[in-house]
Amino acid sequence: MPAIVTRSLAREFGGGVVAVSGLDLEVADGEIYAFLGPNGAGKTTTVRMLTTLLRPTGGEARVAGFHVVREAAAVRRSIGVALQEAALDPLMTGVELIELQAALHGIRRSEGRRRGAELIERVGLTRAADRRVGTYSGGMRRRLDLAMALVHEPRVLFLDEPTTGLDPQSRQAIWEEVRKLNEDGTTVFLTTQYLEEADQLADRVGIIDGGAMAAEGTPEALKAEVGRPRLVLRPADGAADRAHEVLRRFGEPRPERGGSVSVALERGAEDVAAVVRSLDDAGIAVESLDLHRPTLDDVFLAKTGHLLEGDGDEREPEREPAAR
Ligand SMILES: Nc1ncnc2c1ncn2[C@@H]1O[C@H](COP(=O)(O)OP(=O)(O)O)[C@@H](O)[C@H]1O
Ligand SMILES: [Mg+2]
Repeated sequence: MPAIVTRSLAREFGGGVVAVSGLDLEVADGEIYAFLGPNGAGKTTTVRMLTTLLRPTGGEARVAGFHVVREAAAVRRSIGVALQEAALDPLMTGVELIELQAALHGIRRSEGRRRGAELIERVGLTRAADRRVGTYSGGMRRRLDLAMALVHEPRVLFLDEPTTGLDPQSRQAIWEEVRKLNEDGTTVFLTTQYLEEADQLADRVGIIDGGAMAAEGTPEALKAEVGRPRLVLRPADGAADRAHEVLRRFGEPRPERGGSVSVALERGAEDVAAVVRSLDDAGIAVESLDLHRPTLDDVFLAKTGHLLEGDGDEREPEREPAAR
């Protein structure tokens, strides 16, 4: 049974805003699935519908085998959720919050204490466990929120932009935790605006734009679909014409800026050695040589017609408070 299935899932808001339109999605048990899209694409709306926090206005969805509207309570027991804006009471400590979360799930006090300590350790917050959450850095709050989402041992975990605004180190820590959880059998559905996050973490990526799925597949398949690797080289002065001649054996040569020439390698990156040998045999000196493999950037552009804005900016340098 797939962990998540949707059929024509849709959500409209008043005033004709179509946040999500006709989404067909299937996430296999044990997968890490990344929903990649810019601000306003419909990611949070989708997560809120799948986690029973918002009613669909069209279509339907099942999570862990349960219908998100008719069997909402069963869905909630099966899932963990870390939302984009976690509302954590700043006056409570990490350990208090996680024990409260356990209690809300009906977990016995002694068991809640045990699991709380274990999860806090797991996300690397043991030394900060008795500090008020108001003193936590952004990365620490995200880690606590993740621990809280795990307290009832959910089968399916939803993470809405788990690393937005975090520095690279905190981001890595979250990625590692997600990988470990997944190795232990948890299905993960995450949303992200970061191409690299989708590329690094996900078994499969869905590109969402304007409330609809623009493309879906493994990162490798999506990149392969967009194009072959392109070799860009700069022949020594005066050798451009002869270089074109040689490159024609490997694909369609194309002039590039600054006297460079490029060719999309018909047989892929393994052709690079043969290109170099052929140029050498023809006595053509080369000043520079670069291989450009398609990235998810290229995929995004090819599938949506625009660049994924917001990737790379809006990241605040983060300060872990010194006193732990
Ligand atoms: N409660 C709401 N009322 C009206 N419009 C909304 C509401 N929530 C989201 N939207 C709109 O739906 C679209 C998708 O939003 P959202 O799902 O939050 O996107 P994302 O999470 O990808 O940034 C946006 O145009 C947003 O303004
Ligand atoms: Mg969102």
